[in-house]
Amino acid sequence: MLDLLIHNAVLPDGRDNMSIAVAGGCIAEVTAGLDAPAHDKLDAQGLLVTPHFVDPHFHMDATLSYGLPRVNESGTLLEGIAVWGELKPMLSAEALIERALAYCDWAVAKGLLAIRSHVDTSDPSLLAVDAMLEVKRRVAPYIDLQLVAFPQDGVLRTQGGVDNLKRALDKGVDVVGGIPHFERTMADGAASVKLLCELAAVRGLPVDMHCDESDDPLSRHIETLAFETQRLGLQGRVTGSHCTSMHSMDNYYVSKLLPLIAQAQVNVIANPLINITLQGRHDSYPRRRGMTRVPELMAAGVNVAFGHDCVMDPWYGMGSGDMLEVAHMGLHVAQMTSQAGIRQCFDGVTGNAARVLGLKSYGLEAGCDASFVLLQARDPVEAIRLRATRLKVFCKGQLVAETPAATSVLRLDGRPAATSFMPPLRHPKERRAH
Ligand code: FE2
Repeated sequence: MLDLLIHNAVLPDGRDNMSIAVAGGCIAEVTAGLDAPAHDKLDAQGLLVTPHFVDPHFHMDATLSYGLPRVNESGTLLEGIAVWGELKPMLSAEALIERALAYCDWAVAKGLLAIRSHVDTSDPSLLAVDAMLEVKRRVAPYIDLQLVAFPQDGVLRTQGGVDNLKRALDKGVDVVGGIPHFERTMADGAASVKLLCELAAVRGLPVDMHCDESDDPLSRHIETLAFETQRLGLQGRVTGSHCTSMHSMDNYYVSKLLPLIAQAQVNVIANPLINITLQGRHDSYPRRRGMTRVPELMAAGVNVAFGHDCVMDPWYGMGSGDMLEVAHMGLHVAQMTSQAGIRQCFDGVTGNAARVLGLKSYGLEAGCDASFVLLQARDPVEAIRLRATRLKVFCKGQLVAETPAATSVLRLDGRPAATSFMPPLRHPKERRAH
């Protein structure tokens, strides 16, 4: 007897009339038109079932602190770091945990069940680290929360920065982070990349560094990160986050850089909502978009994912944990408007992001965790267009969130009575014409 049988589902790869059989928290079988005894049955009514969303880049310690102690008036990365610095002495573990748990509730409601969050290690008290480790423990039943030791103020620029970061790792933080573009000089930035990669190699940990988050076309830290990855044999374990300077780099140099990143198997994470907001702030017009070269990286064979980065914090006052909003902005900024491009953007917040986190049981195949989302959309393109309602969210076979379908009731005489913003299916003759 199955625990759950979903039938009449569409999968992200386009297969329709699919059944998903669940037993013991795992997917037992995915096949067309299966009928079998089950405790619960769910008719997906031809809508999309996707593996849960994954956010590969977030800042859980800063989330929901927007306006504390003041708003970032210039909107720049640097004023955001300054505002966060002003808030840090006022932080308490209780407030950090309360805000992070509130955000995790939003995440679950949006079908976001795995998050990699950076946590600031600059403060020697490691208050935020302890608070986020507590959050990780509390949400473990429903969110896979990975923590990155992130020296926000620069690991070399901060007195005791290396020691603080090592102590955070000793406490159980999962990944080595960095911020080379915020060190005092380009040379110090490169030295920090080398030092942190060596630390990760010794400890057998992954690396995820904020890398070249600027509009400086001569910032070269992603090159150093890829080189150190190869030198130390860390292929597949390293991620460069942001990489916004690549937007402004010379094309010839990028033609040399992309194969290096691909050979080193370094993942790249773009954060479209934040990149379009923070970058280009020193420009007049034309004003650069500032997001890294997503389609070019993908074409070079690099695993590229999209992160949310910030929700209501000193850097960004918007957001609700909706990874479809992230993908929506990503496809606009990268101009990935072809059908294939839009689907790649969907991959950026699902499968590609899961690869960054190294999630072993992710996917819609037998043996994977039964952690998936029924969306009010018929395919990934429609899901992004509508930032589709998460009708049902399942975590390891358990229903953990439900949202009513978004439907507008019309009051027009003689017209359809309701709409969900889905166009009618094509007429058979039109289908043949295409
Ligand atoms: Fe970030």
